[in-house]
Order: sequence, then structure tokens, then C-alpha cells
Amino acid sequence: MKLHPASRALRGKITAPGDKSISHRSVILGALAKGVTEVSGFLYGADCLATIDCFRKLGVRIEDARRKTDGRQVLQIEGKGIFALDTPFGELNCGNSGTTARLLSGILAAQAFTSIVTGDASLCKRPMKRIMEPLSQMGAVIESVNGNDCCPLRIHGTRLHALDYRMPVASAQVKSAVLLASLYADAASTVHEALPSRDHTELMLRAFGADIRVSEEPEISPLAKKIVLAPGALLRAQKVHVPADISSAAFLIAAALLVPGSEVYLKEVGINPTRAGLLHVLRAFGADVEMTNITNAAEPYADFNVKSSKLVCPEGRLVIEGEIIPTLIDELPVIAVLAAFAEGETVIKNAGELRVKESDRIALLVRNLREMGAEAEETPDGMIIRGGKPLHGAQIKTHGDHRIAMGFAVAALAAEGDTVLDDDACIAVSYPDFFKDLALLS
Ligand code: S3P
Repeated sequence: MKLHPASRALRGKITAPGDKSISHRSVILGALAKGVTEVSGFLYGADCLATIDCFRKLGVRIEDARRKTDGRQVLQIEGKGIFALDTPFGELNCGNSGTTARLLSGILAAQAFTSIVTGDASLCKRPMKRIMEPLSQMGAVIESVNGNDCCPLRIHGTRLHALDYRMPVASAQVKSAVLLASLYADAASTVHEALPSRDHTELMLRAFGADIRVSEEPEISPLAKKIVLAPGALLRAQKVHVPADISSAAFLIAAALLVPGSEVYLKEVGINPTRAGLLHVLRAFGADVEMTNITNAAEPYADFNVKSSKLVCPEGRLVIEGEIIPTLIDELPVIAVLAAFAEGETVIKNAGELRVKESDRIALLVRNLREMGAEAEETPDGMIIRGGKPLHGAQIKTHGDHRIAMGFAVAALAAEGDTVLDDDACIAVSYPDFFKDLALLS
């Protein structure tokens, strides 16, 4: 796809697509609950459609009527209860979605049948040992079919034991796999997180009636959390409202900041504090982003008014590291693009997890930023970007990674000359209407 620099300012009101993490979890918990769960604001992106497809193969009726109510589309899931999934016919294909593969594995480990979890070429390269280890400690029998600790996984369902688990990395997918498996364990399980990752699973489990308790562990660290989940509570169907995904809104925010004269109003963007690290970085860059209509639901959200801004690193240097990293891990591609336009040096540290996302995002971000004329270098667990010079169009390699594609589509709007993305279809994973929405705003 060939992209031209923006010829006019971006203006208007828009709702970014539904939150991907919350959408996945609404299908998963809806399937395990008794009764009909209704989800508004669901993200009909390829990743969440893969989750729907897997649960349909497990015998769950899911009505994707995409009926309009208040301009939104309600998804209905006829839950079967946690012990009534069917033996799937064929493999469970999670496509590009690590969340689907990892969370689903936690559930499949406890079923009375054997199943195979697989995905596309990118997913089949991503590490699964991180879930195989704790699930195996619970008694799960999981083999990597190719012996490389990646998908396809063959999961022989069995009875699971309770676990007391200290998370070795901040990962919501690993934490969620363990918590979902814990619904089936013989006693209460505990997960300890030194650095909190996104907590959508905990919030939704509580809303559906699970016996889950979250407390602080100040003796470990000021942010450490302990999550205790006891099996046995009946999960009941709920009405779930999915706010707009801050990870998708981030690309529109960045576009509005970078294209001169822009003013964009984004409605109902999720601001769960375990996801909202981007807002701190935007503030530090001096971005003009005003938050209004803050709604304190279990998953809080707010409207954002964004005006194009000159971005500058405070005192010439911004270091993004430590506890903020899990709260903006998916926004680092767009933050790296913003950093290339911001005057000063941006240093990203402690983000080694970026190397095992949909692509090696550290290598690919630095490669593409340099192609566009930015000064950027890789470090083992992050990157250093010296920004503020004008960028020019380039040939962008995406490795089929939706967030790399959207990040550089935004960079292209503010660069001189045309940019070519080697793949734009991958964007459908999280934001199928991305280019439509950009066109609406321009
Ligand atoms: C997700 C967790 C994060 C994130 C991913 C979605 C989730 O991954 O990067 O896009 O929905 O649980 P990790 O758990 O690997 O950090």
C-alpha cells in the first residue's frame, strides 16, 4: 500500500474500535458462564474473531448478528458453564492471536478431551513455554508438537491442582492462563505479580461471579499484587460494555498530534490504569491531549480531545523504563514513531518483551525509523531515538505486524514523500477500519 503525506489537517469526532483484550475475555467468560452474555462495543477484528471461532468449535453458540444498538453491535454468547465444552472437531486455530492461544490453553488443560491449539506462522514462532510451565505445575499435560515450545500445542485435558505462582515476566496472558485454569483446580490458587500487567481478566472474573481476591504485597514491592482465585463459584452471564481500545486510539492520537492544524475528539477510550501509561508519555512530550467525561466503571473510560502539538522531550531526554513498561507495552511502536518527531532523545528500556510480540518490534521499529531518516539504535531491551529531524517516505517492512503497519502509516502522514507498506491487510487483526477512520478525519 502506498501512502501519501497528509494534505490537510485531521478533524472530527470518532470512536476507535473496541478493546481487543476485553473483547477476547468477554467471549471466553461468556462461554464459561451460565446464560446469555451480551457484549456491546465488541471488536470484530481478526484476533477476536479467532477466539469466537475456537469457542464455536468447542460447542458454544455465539451470535455475531452485528445488530445495531446505539450505533454499536451487540454480540451474544450462549454460555455452557465451565464443565460443558464439547470435544472440538479439528484444530483450534488462533490465527495471529497470542491472547487466544494462551488464554484458551489454560482452559483446555482442564477439559476431559485432547485438543490442538495452533495459529499462523507468526504465532507459531511465539514462546509458549511461559504458559506450559505454570500449567504443567498444575498437572497439565501439554506438548509442543514440533518440540520447540511453540504452537501447535497438543493439550491432553486432565484434573488440575492448585498453584502458588510467582510471575517471572509481567504478562497478562500468562497470568490469565493460570487464572482460567485455576477455575478448575482442586483448591484456591495464587498468582504473585511483582510488576502488574493489565488486569482485565481479574475485573471480568469478579463481574461474572468468580471468587477472586486481589491484594497488595508491599513486602515484595510497592506495586506488587497477589491474586487468589478459589474454584467452585458459579459464573453467571453478564452484559459487558467494551470501551474503545487505547491501543488502537493511540494511532489516531499520534496522527492528530503530528499532522499540523489537527483537532480530533475520541469517544469512550478505555483508561484502565494498567493500560494507560501512554498518557504519561504524551504529557511528558508536551502533547495537547485533554481528557473529559471520565466514567468510573469497572473498566473506566473517557473522551479525549487531541490537538496537533510540537513534541519535545523534557530537558532534552525522556527515559521510558521500569514499572510503566507493562502499562504501555502495545503502544511502544507508536511511541517510537512519536519519539522520532519529538525534539530530544527518547530512551526505552526494560522492554525486551517487544522482541516476542507479533514481530521483533525492537528490530523492526529501529530498521523502519532509520529507513525514514530518523536516528535510532537498538539496545537488547529497548531502543534510543534522537528525534526532531524531518522524516522522509520509505519502504516499510511490517513482518505482518498490525501495530508496526499502523505506526508507520501514521509516520507516513507527517513525512516528506510517499511511503510504501509491504502489508496492510495485517491491520485487520485489531483495527479493520483504520484507513476508513483516517479518511473520515481528513
Ligand atoms: C494481552 C497482553 C499483552 C499484550 C497483548 C494483549 C492480553 O501481552 O501485549 O497485546 O490481552 O492479555 P503479554 O501478556 O504477552 O504481555
